[in-house]
Amino acid sequence: MADFTARPTARLRGAAMVPGDKSISHRSLMLSGIATGRSEIAGFLASEDCLATLNAMRALGVQIERPTPTDVVVHGVGMHGLRAAAQALDMGNAGTAMRLFTGLLAAQPFASRLIGDASLMKRPMERVAGPLRAMGADVRTQDGRPPVDIGAAARRLRGIEYPMPVPSAQVKSAILLAGLYADGVTRVTSPAVSRDHSERMLLSCGVRLQTEGLQTVLHPPQRLNAQRLTVPGDFSSAAFFIVAGLLGADADGLLLRNVGLNPTRTGLLEILGRMGARIDIESRRESGAEPVADLRVHASALRGIEVPPQLVPLAIDEFPVLFIAAACAEGSTVVRGAEELRVKESDRIATMAAGLSTLGVSHEVLPDGMRIEGRPQGAAFAGGAVDSHGDHRVAMSFAIASLRAAAPIGIRDVANVATSFPGFVGLARALGFDLVET
Ligand code: S3P
Repeated sequence: MADFTARPTARLRGAAMVPGDKSISHRSLMLSGIATGRSEIAGFLASEDCLATLNAMRALGVQIERPTPTDVVVHGVGMHGLRAAAQALDMGNAGTAMRLFTGLLAAQPFASRLIGDASLMKRPMERVAGPLRAMGADVRTQDGRPPVDIGAAARRLRGIEYPMPVPSAQVKSAILLAGLYADGVTRVTSPAVSRDHSERMLLSCGVRLQTEGLQTVLHPPQRLNAQRLTVPGDFSSAAFFIVAGLLGADADGLLLRNVGLNPTRTGLLEILGRMGARIDIESRRESGAEPVADLRVHASALRGIEVPPQLVPLAIDEFPVLFIAAACAEGSTVVRGAEELRVKESDRIATMAAGLSTLGVSHEVLPDGMRIEGRPQGAAFAGGAVDSHGDHRVAMSFAIASLRAAAPIGIRDVANVATSFPGFVGLARALGFDLVET
């Protein structure tokens, strides 16, 4: 089992470019695969999660070339060109892949089975299976969890009007993918804003779709147009180095280039801004359907805040590293309304709380979040051994904590960092971290 040792580091310096966006990379393969003709994807995230999607698309009959690890050419088979896979499709650790494929495959005239690793096999899947059954699909889970068994769709699915109980982009996207094949309009309403990469990409593929407030309306198309897109850097990967820069950048600040700044993803910037973070946004531009910029992150004295609940879905993957920022802030930080953290790659409230205890950070676990008492500059964390429980974002967050530690932090079970952020250790070391994987 792979572990990290993160030794205390004083100062970070330099510039970095994080790898491509995971959410957009998954979606680009699925939509290109069912588009008509050749699509080109640059800046693809060559991580284990996205490679699970790539392998699954190949198993479903789509020819895919990779002239380089991050350049992908997809020969789309058209909306009705997918073929049954010879065996179960293994999604590895990737919840996004499993939930989106459930939607896509629910509409196909052949059966499929979706499986994953030990973590994914414990995650809730009825949140997608339920609405897909309401559309007429045959989708079965085992006590709400994978394997997901999808029967051949005997006839066209029905368009649905679905109010989602949780603001989940995966659920929304699964229903929209099934809705592509339905006999009428599909309307999905979310209780709060969630990431809208699917909607942007469907529009780029020529699909008629409108977003009206919290509702997305999709009209089933005849075909999807092939695309040529450049995937922006993943904001959720940049988040680790944003917090790192706030804790330890030198006088020039840490420069993070080509970061995706889709407003449905950047809740962390708003939260950190309220905590006193100094982050300059430079060279704003568009990359395909997505906004992108460079971020210059300055060392900042942070103060604790009550995180506004409406920002929670816009920062849902960033809470592990936000908890580290909160642990370095003056005063207490309170996060509520974040019960979704309990059903991520690990129960992120529990796994982060256990690690914070090891580091000597006072905190109170809440059913839907955490209250953290910060230890501002001067009051270093204890070192010690923390367990990531195989959760990539927990592992990387505790590596960032080494910037304020008095002794080395050992982080167990970190192999899954490769699911979202290949090259994390090399990049961290280039910026000044004393981080090794053993
Ligand atoms: C994702 C949506 C979010 C997020 C996940 C990626 C996506 O999950 O946590 O990492 O690509 O749609 P939920 O839809 O469960 O909130």
